[in-house]
Amino acid sequence: MGVYRDVWERSITEPEAFWGEAAKQIDWYREPTIVLDRSKDPIFKWFADGEMNTCFNALDRHVANGRGDSLALIYDSPVSSTKAQYTYRELLDEVSHFAGALRNLGVHHGDRVVIYMPMIPQAAIAMLACARLGAVHSVVFGGFAAHELALRIEDARPKVVVTASCGIEVNRVIEYKPLIDAALEESSHAPSHCIVFQRPEALAQMVAGRDIDWVQAVDRADVAECVPVKATDPLYILYTSGTTGRPKGVVRDNGGHAVALQWSMSNIYDTNPGEVFWAASDVGWVVGHSYIVYAPLLAGCTTIMYEGKPVGTPDAGAYWRVISEYGVKTLFTAPTGFRAIKREDPNGQLLGDYDMSKFRYLFLAGERLDPETYSWASALLGVPVIDHWWQTETGWPIAANHMGLDPMPAKPGSPTVPVAGFDVRIFDETGAQAPTGNEGLIMIKTPLPPGCMSEVWGDKDKFTEAYLSHSPGYYLTGDGGHFDDDGYLFVMGRVDDVINVAGHRLSTGEIEEILAAHPDVAECAVIGVADQLKGQIPRGLVVLKSGVTRSSEEISNELIKRVRDQLGAVVSLRQVDVVAALPKTRSGKVLRKNMRSIADGIDIPVPSTIDNPAILEDLRPILERH
Ligand code: COA
Ligand code: AMP
Repeated sequence: MGVYRDVWERSITEPEAFWGEAAKQIDWYREPTIVLDRSKDPIFKWFADGEMNTCFNALDRHVANGRGDSLALIYDSPVSSTKAQYTYRELLDEVSHFAGALRNLGVHHGDRVVIYMPMIPQAAIAMLACARLGAVHSVVFGGFAAHELALRIEDARPKVVVTASCGIEVNRVIEYKPLIDAALEESSHAPSHCIVFQRPEALAQMVAGRDIDWVQAVDRADVAECVPVKATDPLYILYTSGTTGRPKGVVRDNGGHAVALQWSMSNIYDTNPGEVFWAASDVGWVVGHSYIVYAPLLAGCTTIMYEGKPVGTPDAGAYWRVISEYGVKTLFTAPTGFRAIKREDPNGQLLGDYDMSKFRYLFLAGERLDPETYSWASALLGVPVIDHWWQTETGWPIAANHMGLDPMPAKPGSPTVPVAGFDVRIFDETGAQAPTGNEGLIMIKTPLPPGCMSEVWGDKDKFTEAYLSHSPGYYLTGDGGHFDDDGYLFVMGRVDDVINVAGHRLSTGEIEEILAAHPDVAECAVIGVADQLKGQIPRGLVVLKSGVTRSSEEISNELIKRVRDQLGAVVSLRQVDVVAALPKTRSGKVLRKNMRSIADGIDIPVPSTIDNPAILEDLRPILERH
């Protein structure tokens, strides 16, 4: 703990010196002389006068340093029975040609490119090509429906959209092109072109004049060199669910992001050049951005893109197979994946078939790691199982066990201690700092370290309004928790309307908007309830307009279908109950927290401001039934 404590304290008391030193691990066209620009407090800018290129740092410099023949990316796709490997030199060649193709279509520094792709190497190639040109990518998770894609296209206003003809969900081919076409039909913004990577499992119908085949676009292109950008220029926009119905575009800069991720690879993940790092997530989520694409490549490691599931592709030994086949040192995934494996192979019998000798660490994040899954994975694998906590907004862990710096004993249920640069505090409801041990809102004292979001895309004031105004000088994480006497942080869950379904972050407000738009619905509430596999799943409760005579079952099925069609299958909404009334306070606030606790079998006090206690009691049998 001593080494960690010293490093952490220095990162907080002397952030300029600390991160100025860390920045030396990155190659700059112009070295920053201003490490932290504090002039626009509460907005802080890291490496304000530095110039660099993220793609150069992820690819070119490794080739220039003689590591061109090292493996950069391994693609393993049980769903399409395909495998491929790219050295750093090969990946650089693919990326610089694709960057040339984008440039031929008029994509330049600052232009946006929306990427809607499955887990294939072309997704990473497209992201890195944007970074090479100084263009801003916005990757949209393939599990989102056309309407969600349209919202993001409208907000990001891309010059080009990059997609593939299909994704594959276990054994189901999901055609992407009809979804893109529907999204572009709905969106008021029209990109000039759409580049389509044709996969053999489905051939996309092309729109003449607008759609271009990936291979042809690359064939026609010369290579594009890296464009120097300001450290503070945006690298990407990633939309995430907030407390409102509309997703927020989290903007990540170039310089701070590269410095933070590079630091994290050796100090937190203890994974070094030439070693194999596997984040079993999706490029559509922040974990995929940071730890499938950017961090492992910045650090000169080998990264794995796995197009499959923890179970069913073909069995619960899939993760062990990948680990042994490629000599994975570090696996990073969500607890839900491990719960799925545990359910299918509770005694871990399949593990015996594989050579796990190179495997050193299992990192888990995305949702609370329940102590049972922690114990099961620890006993089975015999390596440290590390819970760590972070958010799309921060882009890298806020709390973790620093395995490369000063490993500490784990405490089940805790993501260990604040990461260097994160000054984490607990506040009570009155806005005062809570004593050690007391539960409260988790806040982070500003400035946040490098790598965290710099703004909300398209709305200059939103970042301050949504995150920095609750208690001036502090960033509101939206999570609740406490510190124990040893300084370990415990993160207990969201205190707002965000839910986590199988590690996917969703807003109950967004689901409610879809339910409320149904012509028969008068009012509704969506709550996240505990689920053994997915951590949480949403449940809907709707009150119908008076005079509606159609059957509840019919309406409920329509509502479930609407959510699936408009938001996406990942929402996993399976239960919508028609009820007589919703419990509210006298001021009209729906008592979601009380409904949720009844559904989870925990009793919490009913607020004295409840309007009609009988409504909540009447709902009890419905809430308890699932
Ligand atoms: N494109 C299209 N549809 C997708 C999709 C994608 N990229 N990803 C998921 N879906 C669909 C699934 O096919 C499923 O559809 P269905 O309702 O018709 O069955 C639905 O969305 C829910 O998917 P998922 O959340 O993956 O649940 P599942 O029941 O299929 O599998 C797990 C459960 C635990 C195996 C799975 O959630 C999993 O692998 N989790 C790991 C989570 C993870 O890596 N999270 C990233 C954050 S770190
Ligand atoms: P996302 O932005 O999708 O990464 O989701 C971030 C949210 O996931 C956080 O605000 C937490 O609620 C939750 N989360 C992520 N990691 C953890 C963890 N290790 N423990 C508890 N909650 C977590």
